[in-house]
Amino acid sequence: MKNIQPLRPLIDFGQLEEVAEHAANIVQQVRTNMLAPEARKSPPTFNSAQLAELCGIDKSKVGYAAKKGNLPSGSKDGSRLEWTLVESRQWVREYKAENLRDPKLSAGVVVTVANFKGGVSKTTTAAALAQGLSLRGHRVLVIDTDPQGSLTTLFGVLPDTEVEEDQTILPLCAGLTNSIMGAIRPTYWDGIDLVAAAPLLFNAEFLLPSRQKTEKGFEFWRVLDVGLEPAREEYDVIIIDTPPSLSYTTINALIAAQGVLMPLPPNALDFASSAQFWNLFTEVCGGLFRTHGEDKKFYFVDVVLSRVDRSDVVSQAVRQWIMNAYRGMVIPVEIPKTSIAATASAEFGTVYDMDQSSAQAKTLKRARDAYDQLVDYIEMQVAGIWASDAESMQTRKEPAEGVEL
Ligand SMILES: Nc1ncnc2c1ncn2[C@@H]1O[C@H](COP(=O)(O)OP(=O)(O)OP(=O)(O)O)[C@@H](O)[C@H]1O
Ligand SMILES: [Mg+2]
Repeated sequence: MKNIQPLRPLIDFGQLEEVAEHAANIVQQVRTNMLAPEARKSPPTFNSAQLAELCGIDKSKVGYAAKKGNLPSGSKDGSRLEWTLVESRQWVREYKAENLRDPKLSAGVVVTVANFKGGVSKTTTAAALAQGLSLRGHRVLVIDTDPQGSLTTLFGVLPDTEVEEDQTILPLCAGLTNSIMGAIRPTYWDGIDLVAAAPLLFNAEFLLPSRQKTEKGFEFWRVLDVGLEPAREEYDVIIIDTPPSLSYTTINALIAAQGVLMPLPPNALDFASSAQFWNLFTEVCGGLFRTHGEDKKFYFVDVVLSRVDRSDVVSQAVRQWIMNAYRGMVIPVEIPKTSIAATASAEFGTVYDMDQSSAQAKTLKRARDAYDQLVDYIEMQVAGIWASDAESMQTRKEPAEGVEL
């Protein structure tokens, strides 16, 4: 045989360590350049047309309301008026007041974004959902449970250097606290707070099973659910991003959820592995409850087609399989595959971070419309859960018939 590749020098772990160190440095440099203190992520601003759209009012009403003085009047950018995100959210909370949660009557709703397959756009969906809900006036907490820290990065925080252990869910997993509140930090985006993740979160995968062995009555799967209790008072929606595996933290995130959202790109391999997701999910999570004689019910478990390429014939066929397999669970919104979402700088943000007047405005609008529809759909379901909370609260308050006070 002539075409034999001569052996190259053998590779030992020392060399791999060097590779690891070098790659980590480069990643750090890239992230730092994109998110450096001087180039920190900044929230978008809104012109009067965009503000009117957010508030669901006519553009002409904006000028009048701005002059009346109750709401922020915006500042001049050249000849045009513009409003900051903070100001715009004040407007939205005023005009969309009837859509907001009444904290006296209902608790915040936990939505977990999950799929054991990697790269299906879980993190992008979680971030966009949080931003979209905050633009509708809601207060959102995002929780990153993936040691890769991608969601943390999207919110402008560097996992390797800017995340301390006590700013993650790790103290909860270690049993050092039973409340998430101490781990919460604000983000560049008004209305969204963050519980970050960093590689140190891998320790949770050892801590939780070891506590299960040593602590009597410990339920490893309920750590996050219990820890979130105080946050359900403070936030309207809590969105949890999960790693691409059935880890101890993923189980916690699923069990803490009232709603689950599974992004699923219409391609054969992702579809095939999605079937395993439901198997493992029911076997492991369902099994935990059944062995304890309990029950767990979700208000919604939705599949959203993500990264859909309408021109791809194969993906059309797979879409059909997905529809057949998941019938009523596939929500009537598709997130298109866009080049915008795949540009390098955009990987550190979502469609809601992009300048709406940019050259790619048309592609951006298509993607943004799709995310807006997804946000509307989830908002509607969340509002349904608040309403049901409020109803049971009222019935509890009302005395039973025939009982005299
Ligand atoms: N609609 C889209 N169109 C094109 N690219 C997209 C779209 N949504 C996400 N992406 C890109 O796909 C890649 C994976 O997305 P993302 O990180 O959100 O997936 P993930 O499921 O969270 O991955 P992981 O399993 O590693 O956590 C990213 O590079 C992201 O920018
Ligand atoms: Mg992710």
